[in-house]
Amino acid sequence: MNILLTGGAGYIGSHTCVMLLEQGHDVVVVDNLCNSKVESLKRVEKITGKKIIFYQQDLSNAAGVDEIFKHQLIDAVIHFAGLKSVAESVDQPLRYYQNNIDGTLALCDAMLANGVKNLVFSSSATVYGNPETMPINENAPVGPFNPYGRSKLFIEEILTDLYASDKSWNIALLRYFNPVGAHPGGLIGEDPSDLPNNLMPYVSQVAVGKLSELKVFGDDYETPDGTGVRDYIHVMDLAEGHLKALEKLQAGPGLVTYNLGTGRGCSVLEMVAAFEKASGRQIPYQIVGRRQGDIPTCYADPSFAEKELGWTASRGIDEMCADAWRWQHMNPKGYL
Ligand code: NAD
Ligand code: UD1
Repeated sequence: MNILLTGGAGYIGSHTCVMLLEQGHDVVVVDNLCNSKVESLKRVEKITGKKIIFYQQDLSNAAGVDEIFKHQLIDAVIHFAGLKSVAESVDQPLRYYQNNIDGTLALCDAMLANGVKNLVFSSSATVYGNPETMPINENAPVGPFNPYGRSKLFIEEILTDLYASDKSWNIALLRYFNPVGAHPGGLIGEDPSDLPNNLMPYVSQVAVGKLSELKVFGDDYETPDGTGVRDYIHVMDLAEGHLKALEKLQAGPGLVTYNLGTGRGCSVLEMVAAFEKASGRQIPYQIVGRRQGDIPTCYADPSFAEKELGWTASRGIDEMCADAWRWQHMNPKGYL
């Protein structure tokens, strides 16, 4: 198939590019590089020995997006492009709504105008807000409590309305849990442009000596060791989930929603221990107060994706940490 990846130069997009190219698909990427570097795509080409067609462009440029569809044969789109920092979204809600929603509207317009109606969308477990019961299945109530999360939910609703208006669309809403790790070759990985917000890139930078110590946000949660519990999923497992979702769209399912997680919750301290083991380095940490907006526990019930897509996450936390460490160690300054 010919697949257009919006945001394909980013963390999850670049790993999905590798997987798609290795499976014999052709890949076109559109990315404005606001949170990534073109070097990631060069590395993907190096890993796979295949070429990527790249457009450096903002998705909100409707005419530019339309041009891509006019010049390239596209069978399906995976829509990764978006801003993703929760804290930044609280400070700059208009920028987040504008970027994430306008970009999606321009993309869907161009798809409609050019008769491409197969779409996989990067949603997030953040749409569930503070869930009442664990594990979380796709029917759990939604209720995100920050602008980033709401932008994801609004887009899910826009796509649901689009499907209701025209049942010839096939749309997969993929709700990711906590993607971590890297391609095992160490050439591509997560490359945060600022101080990392998320746990694992922070831990990696402590291990490599870029940051002095980790701050553990709270040890008084009702969890086995008091620290927050999350469902960490290897980015290569996540990438495979996208391939399975694309296959599913070929069967014409209409609009479908899947959790992509492992179903296993791990605490902050468990992840720190696993990273120490993988890296052979000590991760100094200090327990501090809870981070505002954090929930105690969040992990998926991934059984619907397993049943419908034949997909399960197979990589455990030791592999996640070993691969994240290889990337960090081989590229201490990221892509440069
Ligand atoms: P990322 O920032 O590495 O990748 C996103 C890419 O989109 C970047 O390359 C960025 O330059 C590009 N982009 C952003 N706005 C754009 C625009 N208007 N036009 C063109 N390109 C644009 O993030 P990621 O971790 O790879 O996440 C990919 C998607 O998955 C995002 O939509 C994110 O919200 C979602 N998601 C990520 C996580 C996570 O923890 N990484 C969890 C749940 C959902
Ligand atoms: C964050 C986002 C969420 C997003 C998800 C995946 C917030 C409030 N939520 O969730 O919307 O979908 O990432 O990208 O940002 N931790 C520390 N020290 C740190 C960093 C994190 O102790 O320096 C802890 C957190 O308190 C949490 C766990 O590590 O218990 C995981 O944190 P993080 O990686 O930021 O992911 P989420 O909080 O799940």
